[in-house]
Amino acid sequence: MNNFKDVFIKNSHTINLKNKKCIVRVDFNVPLSDQNKILDDTRIKAVKKTIDFLISKKAIVILISHMGRPKGKTDQNLSLGKIKNSIELILKYKILLINIKENDEIIHNSISDIKSNQIIMFENIRFNPEEETYSDKFSKYLSSFGDIYINDAFAVSHRNHSSITGIPKFIPSFMGFMMYKEYTSISNLSSQLGNNSICIFGGVKISDKIQILNNFIGKVKYIAIGGGMIKEFANYLNSKKIPDKNNIIHNILNNKKTKILIPKDVIIKNKNLKPEYIVKNLDEILTGDNIVDIGPKTINFYSNSIKISTYILWNGPMGIFENPDSNKGTSAIAKAIARNNKAYSVAGGGSTVQAINQFITPKDLSHVSTGGGAFMEYIENGTLPGINAIIQNKKNLYE
Ligand code: 3PG
Repeated sequence: MNNFKDVFIKNSHTINLKNKKCIVRVDFNVPLSDQNKILDDTRIKAVKKTIDFLISKKAIVILISHMGRPKGKTDQNLSLGKIKNSIELILKYKILLINIKENDEIIHNSISDIKSNQIIMFENIRFNPEEETYSDKFSKYLSSFGDIYINDAFAVSHRNHSSITGIPKFIPSFMGFMMYKEYTSISNLSSQLGNNSICIFGGVKISDKIQILNNFIGKVKYIAIGGGMIKEFANYLNSKKIPDKNNIIHNILNNKKTKILIPKDVIIKNKNLKPEYIVKNLDEILTGDNIVDIGPKTINFYSNSIKISTYILWNGPMGIFENPDSNKGTSAIAKAIARNNKAYSVAGGGSTVQAINQFITPKDLSHVSTGGGAFMEYIENGTLPGINAIIQNKKNLYE
């Protein structure tokens, strides 16, 4: 099953989409301002092609998305209702938001009553604990609302969650157009990494990233550390304790295969001091320091390594780039990647995409992925659970 796009189009014609209920898994986990303004709408725009295609075939579209990490509980701060109006403006369809904790008869009736040019969106799927813990029962329940399933949520396809890997066990399943583009743009990259490659890790999802970073050792020449992970490395390096040989940071730093680039200096923010922002060398960082960016020496050091690399992967900003006082590191890294136009450069992640749109343009890179963790795991493993689920489904239903 090589060409998912053909399969999607061919089978969707064959099965006649008219009045078919299509569950489309999307990832609307977008960065928001304090006033709930969407700071980067790339992930929403990216699924429009699939939705337009389905609507043009007179299908009924049912969107499923998550937002944030509500840990299986309803949390109005993470309700998709907060961005419903913005999504309507971007997609140009009216949206009926459905709470799937309702009685299923009410949900089926709402789906049956849907008007043309209206689409359905289920409330944040992670309000249900069975989404993240994975449950066949919950997956089957979700699949009961659709005739077919389309995964257009590349960014969350590294998760073994019910709406990603579960629904394809029960109904015919396909890749959406955006998913297919990600699939083809990244699939061969893992075999091309090696001696001339650099991987730049920043961002805030520290526990996820350290594990992924660890798995890149031996696959790339350099790994550069930024964002929330700086503190972990600084704490380890500045600790007076005898190193614990089972500590992941210890093992990362002592590996013999990949050179780990650690910031030489950082920007610290302290509201109670004047000036509020100061530069500190890594060995001067104290446990309570609030690191908000990489410093000027680190910018030079990292930019030089980017300049000599032929494969560049970037996931996660260097600091709090939304604030002009702490955006120099992220801006400089983005510009260094853009300047190296001989390299094959791929970047991904919600806030990384936001930074790319702010400091350079997506065209300055070879591919900009809507995924963060998903895109790194895909490069690392050559596949993702969400992709495997679709392939498996095709084997069962179409081959
Ligand atoms: C992301 O933003 O990377 C995706 O939406 C996945 O979110 P998660 O890391 O909370 O699973």
